[in-house]
Amino acid sequence: MPAAPQADAIVLFGATGDLARRMLLASLYFLDVDGFLPDRFRIVATARTDMTSEAFHGLVHETLSERSEGVDDKVWDRFRKRLVYIGADATTAEGVTKLCPALQGAKAPFFYLAISPSLYERVTVALKAAGLADDTSRIVLEKPIGRDLESSRQINAALGAVFDEEQIFRIDHYLGKETVQNLIALRFANTLFEPLWNNLTIDHVQITVAETEGVGERWPYYDEYGALRDMLQNHMLQLLCLVAMEPPSDMEPDSVRNEKVKVLRSLRRFTRVDATERSVRGQYTPGVVGGKAVEGYEAERGQKSGTETFVALRADIDNWRWAGVPFFLRTGKRMPEKRTQIMLQFKPVPHSIFGQASTQDLVANRLVIDLQPDEDIQLTLMNKAPGLSQGGMRLQSLPLSLSLLRTFEGPGARRRIAYERLLLDVIHGDATLFVRRDEVEEAWRWVDGVADAWSEAKLAPKPYAAGSWGPSGAFALIERFGKDWSD
Ligand code: BG6
Repeated sequence: MPAAPQADAIVLFGATGDLARRMLLASLYFLDVDGFLPDRFRIVATARTDMTSEAFHGLVHETLSERSEGVDDKVWDRFRKRLVYIGADATTAEGVTKLCPALQGAKAPFFYLAISPSLYERVTVALKAAGLADDTSRIVLEKPIGRDLESSRQINAALGAVFDEEQIFRIDHYLGKETVQNLIALRFANTLFEPLWNNLTIDHVQITVAETEGVGERWPYYDEYGALRDMLQNHMLQLLCLVAMEPPSDMEPDSVRNEKVKVLRSLRRFTRVDATERSVRGQYTPGVVGGKAVEGYEAERGQKSGTETFVALRADIDNWRWAGVPFFLRTGKRMPEKRTQIMLQFKPVPHSIFGQASTQDLVANRLVIDLQPDEDIQLTLMNKAPGLSQGGMRLQSLPLSLSLLRTFEGPGARRRIAYERLLLDVIHGDATLFVRRDEVEEAWRWVDGVADAWSEAKLAPKPYAAGSWGPSGAFALIERFGKDWSD
C-alpha cells in the first residue's frame, strides 16, 4: 500500500462544542507539546457562532487551563498561531467556501465532523460542492453512525457518494485508549496467552463499563439511544471484538478489521426468549453516588421515559474458538464507581492434588484488564501461602500486576487523551484503529436484533437506585449461568 500523505491541516466542524474543546483541541495541543504535529500543520476551527479567532483562542486557553497539566506558554504561542476560527454554516456550499482562504496551500487537509450526525450528509455534500473534498482528503466522524442498521446505511451511503471508504475514519474513542491497544500487544506479542485463549481454557469473559455520571444535559440525545445504542453497539462490541478476534496477519487496517467483522458476524442472534433470560434493562432512580444525593433519570428532564440507562446481557460467539464461552457485558450510568474492565476467567484446574482444605482456597486464574480509572493488567495466580502449615499446603491467590503508566513512564506520567492517538493516526492516514463501514453495520445488525427481541418480549427497564450496580436482575442473570460479576 502506498504511504498516505501526511495531513497538513484539520478543519474542525462543531468547534465550539464540548467534545471539540475538551477533547479534540486539547488533544491537538498535547500533540503539539510532544512535537507530533507537523511543522506547518494548521487548525481551522469552525461553527455557526460568529467569533474572532482571538475570542476563540481565549475559550480554548480557558479550557486547557482547567486541566491539571496547565498550559505551557511557549507551546501555546505556537499552537495559537496554527489555530484560526471561522464562523460559518457548514451545511451549505457558500458556508464551506468561507473556509477556503484559510486552507490555501494546504495539500492534504482532513475534516473532522464533531457535529450532530443528522448534519453529516449535508456537510459532506457541501464540502464536495465547495471543491474541498478530493482524493487526498480524509473525513473523520464521531458516533453515533445511525440509530439502527437502516439509518447507519443511509449515512454511510451518503458519505460513500463523496469519499472512498479508505478516506473515511469512523472514530470509536475506546480504540484510542492505551490499554485497549495493549490488549492487542498482550495477545499477539506473547506466546503465553494465545494457546490458552479459547473455550478449552477460558470459562467466560466479562466486560464492564460503569460510569458514575448521570445523563444530565445530554438527555434529549440519550433518551433516543439508551445504553444499548450509546455504549454497547460501539465501545463494548469493539472491546469484545479485540478480545475474541483471530490473530490478524499484520496490523494493516484491513487485516485487523477483517478479523473484527468476522467476530461480529458470529454473534448469536438474540431471540424473544433471550431477551428475558439473557438480558436486563435498567433505569436509575434517585440515589447516592460518591456521597452525594442525585436525582433519577426521569426527574432530570421531568419526563417519563422507557429508555434504559443500564444494560447487562450474555452474548455468545458461535465459532470454534468461543463455542460455549459466555461473554457477559454490562454498562450503566450512575453506578457506584467508574470502572471499565475486561475480565477473562480461566477454568479451574482439572484435578486438585492439595487435599480438601487447600482445594477450598484454590481459585481459578483470572486475567483482568483495567482500562479506567487506572490502566492495569492483572493476572491472578495461585501460590503457596508462606510459612509452615499443618495438614497440607495452604494456597493463596496473588495478582501479578502490570501497572502500565507507572511501569513505563514513571510516577506522575500524564495520562493521554484517547483522541491524541487517533488524531495522530488520521494525520498519518493509518486507519487500523478506526471502524470500517461493514463493522458498524454488522454491529447494528446484532444490536437491532437485541432491540427487536426486547420489544417482542415487551421488556421494560427495571428501576435501580443511583449508586447501585443495576437492577437485581443483573445479578440473577449471571447467576443463572453459575457465575458472578467480578468485583
Ligand atoms: C460516549 C458515550 O461515547 O462514551 C457517553 O456517548 C459515555 O454516554 C462516554 O459517557 C464514555 O467514555 P469514557 O471514555 O469516559 O469511558
